[in-house]
Amino acid sequence: MKYRVRFVGYPRQYQQMKSEFDAVFEEVMSGGDFILRRHLEEFEGNIARYIGTKHAIGVNSGTDALYLSARALGFGSGDEVITVGHTFVATVGAIVQCGAKPILVDIADDFNIDVEHIEEAITSKTKGIIPVHLNGHPCRMDKIMNLAKKYNLIVIEDSAQALGAKFKDKMVGSFGNAGTYSFYPAKLLGAPGDGGMVVTNDDNLARKLKALRDNGRVDSADVIECYGWCSRLDNLHAAILDMKFKYFNQWIRRRREIAKMYDEGLKGAGDIILSPYQGKDFFDVYQNYVICSKRRDELVRYLRDSGVEVLISWPKPMHHQKALNLSHFTLPVTERISEEVLSLPIYPELTDEDVKYTIDCICGYYGN
Ligand SMILES: Cc1ncc(COP(=O)(O)O)c(C=O)c1O
Repeated sequence: MKYRVRFVGYPRQYQQMKSEFDAVFEEVMSGGDFILRRHLEEFEGNIARYIGTKHAIGVNSGTDALYLSARALGFGSGDEVITVGHTFVATVGAIVQCGAKPILVDIADDFNIDVEHIEEAITSKTKGIIPVHLNGHPCRMDKIMNLAKKYNLIVIEDSAQALGAKFKDKMVGSFGNAGTYSFYPAKLLGAPGDGGMVVTNDDNLARKLKALRDNGRVDSADVIECYGWCSRLDNLHAAILDMKFKYFNQWIRRRREIAKMYDEGLKGAGDIILSPYQGKDFFDVYQNYVICSKRRDELVRYLRDSGVEVLISWPKPMHHQKALNLSHFTLPVTERISEEVLSLPIYPELTDEDVKYTIDCICGYYGN
């Protein structure tokens, strides 16, 4: 199917910024700088400054950012860790891979963990919480941090979808013990491949993460501090990401502009429910623009047939994935949302015409 409006715009971005991409490639290739080199350090410094943390450690994916943080912070056998079922599997996977037990809490109507249900999930075994700032929308970090303090819990913020999002003017990722990011191509800041980052203010944790990402080596290749993995953010990817990062705030502004166009254009269209606006405490960076409809599957078919590429994240929540052994959870809001949610195209290179066409198609479907 040839789409008129694509869900992601990689080739468009490359064409618009070709000379800058090519210059970075040329510089890194000519210098032969590939592993743990200057470009990575500069990019880590820029991310740490942006988020407002002491450290940023580049790793090879958002998945490893979560897993290595969970390992370094000591999640293990016998521990329970609270998170959600409406997320990418990597959030839950990080807990399981450490030998700990995921405890899934339902989401609220902003698609993020329902802070009113966290406390009832806490037991004597609870070691931590992994809130997910889904779709670029911040979780209620004040409530989460209060509970963490009350019960002495570790908090890892899964900010894979929320670089630059703020709660009460503070960057998400900087509230908990660690914040994790993904640079998967479709993310707010995307690499031409995989990449991830952990941010933290904890010197010890930063050192442990550096060791874990590089087979136990930190200051010297000859001293092995622990068993680890090979999970470094490649220097070439870091150099490209750092070049793109100069435009990041401008791109977030564009995403918010597109979101506003959707908000206005889709208000009152059929049975569509727009993501609830939750006030000035929440600075949303719109990794995804999501809507809900009881006629979701039919609407998705209609949009695809009309040339608009849309995505469903995720049609099956984690506790309905047989292989994950989480079927003992009952999460009514998560279950409803997985049947009704769909994501519309949103990225900086999307034109106003693309957005208007998408809105017109949706309104056309409902006969508006
Ligand atoms: C919420 C969430 N957590 C974690 C990840 C994992 O990131 P990566 O794909 O870079 O491993 C993703 C990526 O899709 C995500 O959306």
